[in-house]
Amino acid sequence: MNKLVINVGNKKSKIDKDIYGHFSEHLGRCIYEGLYVGEDSKIPNKNGMRTDVVEALKELKIPQLRWPGGCFADEYHWKDGIGPKENRKRMINTHWGGVVEDNSFGTHEFLELCEQVDCEPYIAGNLGSGTVQEMSEWVEYMTFEGVSPMADLRTKNGKNDPWKVRLFGVGNENWGCGGNMTPEYYANEYRRYQTYCRNYGGNKLFKVACGPNSDDYNWCDTVMRIAHPYMDGLSLHYYTIEKTWEDKGSATEFDIEGWYKTLKHTLFMEELVTRHSEIMDRYDPKKRIALAVDEWGCWHNVEPGTNPGFLYQQNTMRDALVAGINLNIFNKHSDRVRIANIAQLVNVLQSVILTEGEKMLLTPTYHVFNMYKCHQDATLVDSFVEVNEIGVDEIKVQNLHESASIDENGNLNITINNLSATDAYDITSTILDMKVTSVKGEILTNKMNAHNTFDNPNVVQTEVFTDFKITEKGVDFTIPPCSVIHLTVK
Ligand code: AHR
Repeated sequence: MNKLVINVGNKKSKIDKDIYGHFSEHLGRCIYEGLYVGEDSKIPNKNGMRTDVVEALKELKIPQLRWPGGCFADEYHWKDGIGPKENRKRMINTHWGGVVEDNSFGTHEFLELCEQVDCEPYIAGNLGSGTVQEMSEWVEYMTFEGVSPMADLRTKNGKNDPWKVRLFGVGNENWGCGGNMTPEYYANEYRRYQTYCRNYGGNKLFKVACGPNSDDYNWCDTVMRIAHPYMDGLSLHYYTIEKTWEDKGSATEFDIEGWYKTLKHTLFMEELVTRHSEIMDRYDPKKRIALAVDEWGCWHNVEPGTNPGFLYQQNTMRDALVAGINLNIFNKHSDRVRIANIAQLVNVLQSVILTEGEKMLLTPTYHVFNMYKCHQDATLVDSFVEVNEIGVDEIKVQNLHESASIDENGNLNITINNLSATDAYDITSTILDMKVTSVKGEILTNKMNAHNTFDNPNVVQTEVFTDFKITEKGVDFTIPPCSVIHLTVK
């Protein structure tokens, strides 16, 4: 029996809905084919955006979507992607597969996609190979209302009113693909570039600086020391890899060791956000600056026979657990983690949607995001679950992982993961400061390698969960192996 204690009276931070963000890069079949098929496509679309994908994304209540990269962002020159499509420059996407990028999806298309999906845009500016002027003019183009060279150009391109753009990243991975900079050099460049990213009219930018790669605590400390007064957010990138960067491991063909290794590697996120937050606290004790985990998720080997530069991978129950664990971690650290973006939205890395021609499927990760959307903008409450150590050989993880929040209607939402691939656990809960009158549940569970395919798209899907008992103290239930449960308690 594992005890779960939730103290509803002990309210903590607000879980910013921006923790539930996504990421779409000009990479492989994410933008082209996955999101954008063009107006002339036989696949049903509205102004080129796939209707099936847009509808599925609306259901997730995505708060914000990051674009155009990734590494692509620091090679992207936004003026190549505006104006009549036939005049747009064609270029080679050197980072991702060496394919031709025809720039038919640019600023107007992305901002229209956000409108269709009903989410906010999160733009990543080019600091690595672009100029200060170029970045400054992009902000002016998107957000200035009135007479100005960029506003006039926007009007000429068919958009009179400016867009609202709040989230703006000043560079991406500038310690690597974004220029191989030292933290000192980047921090000074950040100060300069961000100066010219203006707030026009009522549009107030939320500027995100490039933060550390995984456990690079020196990068975090240096950038905070030099540039913290000028930023609203600092990014953190960490990918879950089963094996090594050279051979990451298959997305679907893994054994029990691969299961536990992956979960152990993803639990490292807890240490990362804790330690980076501690560093940020030294410069920003009031936690004004958000830690933006704007790239996270599983990175597996590409599916056999696909372009290695396209990063197309399948998605199993293991990915579902990775999603559930990370989202619980972000919820629990929501005093500091206020933005996060899983990589990436469609057909790339840990996607919520995969497409093949006109077919589309929802991955196990999609279902986890759908179950967890109840936490968006809710208030984190104190929760604790008693855990046992499980695993194989020296690869050990905790068996259970949870978070809980209370929404504006007073509903308590509990999301709990069973990390065991083989064992179920009985959970007895004590819910303090709340009299339980009703419970509704949903569950995602299957074998560890289970995944959805285009021939069999509903192998892994959410089901109603009724196997619980309301008690004097709370609710008791048995959590099956390899599962994610969401309970709504009233
Ligand atoms: O998401 C794929 C790549 O991973 C991004 O382009 C880059 O920022 C990171 O290294």
